[in-house]
Amino acid sequence: MYVCICNAVTEREVNDAIDTGATTVKALNRQLGVGAQCGACVGCAKECLSKRQMQSTALPSNVFSISKQEAA
Ligand code: FES
Repeated sequence: MYVCICNAVTEREVNDAIDTGATTVKALNRQLGVGAQCGACVGCAKECLSKRQMQSTALPSNVFSISKQEAA
């Protein structure tokens, strides 16, 4: 899926940039040109950022936590 039509930037490219350190729309703009022209993609870029950041902080499915009560 294209995030930025003006610069032909795909969601995959945005996610790759996030995975390699982009944490803001400004960083995505510098790296990929997202939002550099009409700006219509800025909202979508923000959504990609928060979605990707939430995914990277979520525990993998093979990891679980044990509360103190369960462990006792
Ligand atoms: S859609 Fe990204 S700058 Fe226009």
